[in-house]
Amino acid sequence: MSEKTEDIEIRLLLEALYRRFHYDFREYAEASIKRRLRQAREQLGFKTFSAMQDALLHDEAMLPRLLGYLTVQVSEMFRDPDYFRAIREKVVPLLRTYPSLKLWVAGCSAGEELYSFVILFREEGLEERTLFYATDISQEALDAAAQGIYSLDRIRTFTENHRASGGKSSLSDYYTTAYGKAVFDRSLRDRVVFSDHSLVTDAVFAEMHLISCRNVLIYFNRELQDRAIGLFKDALPRGGFLGLGSKESLRFSEHSGAFSDFVRAEKIYQRRDG
Ligand SMILES: C[S@@+](CC[C@H](N)C(=O)[O-])C[C@H]1O[C@@H](n2cnc3c(N)ncnc32)[C@H](O)[C@@H]1O
Repeated sequence: MSEKTEDIEIRLLLEALYRRFHYDFREYAEASIKRRLRQAREQLGFKTFSAMQDALLHDEAMLPRLLGYLTVQVSEMFRDPDYFRAIREKVVPLLRTYPSLKLWVAGCSAGEELYSFVILFREEGLEERTLFYATDISQEALDAAAQGIYSLDRIRTFTENHRASGGKSSLSDYYTTAYGKAVFDRSLRDRVVFSDHSLVTDAVFAEMHLISCRNVLIYFNRELQDRAIGLFKDALPRGGFLGLGSKESLRFSEHSGAFSDFVRAEKIYQRRDG
């Protein structure tokens, strides 16, 4: 059966995006990438994906617009509070035994997950000995993460989540308000390295004690998930921790044997030997 025109055009568009700009969405989960591209085509006013491809190759203003559709930026501070509670109650006591720590938030979006960890580590007295890495492929998201400014209407959810996660202070201790925004304290960024890094095309850059990569693998197909999990495996020494999102798991990964369940319900895994 011959391929549908739309499928051919999408393949070519993603190929052009990769060859020209090195953003590789070719192996992302097909249904969601199609949905996003259709949305982009409609809202950006193109008749066909071929016309979009033409614009992408000849008008650099198109790249950030298209990336805005292809990367999903939904996030929250202390999202799924039980996950952070498990980190606090089960993982932190083991992390305390290390004199220095490295934590990697992969796919950090606009920084909500990162700040959750920095605040949690501060509350638990671990911040001073920790280096935090926050990475993403979206430069816009990384810039927003480095700013740490969120609209006030999100703060209520963040505050409730923080409390439900076992927060030991008030979230309001960490931000000031100005012009309808919550501006998070600069000191929360003192020990953070923000960096452009793709789980699809880049390599491991340091050994980590804890990697949190939540709600990113759901957008990848099976092979890409395995690639990313392989990176995490290589970055973690024996005993290191990996936390995934609520809809993600290592169950079908070729690397599942390299990990054991640590807090099964919260998708927190520990690196085994070998
Ligand atoms: C839904 S957000 C998840 C944010 C946060 N981790 C959370 O769970 O709240 C997905 C993030 O993954 C990022 N992303 C997509 N593809 C990526 C890749 N290949 N490597 C690293 N990050 C990627 C997107 O830019 C986006 O910021």
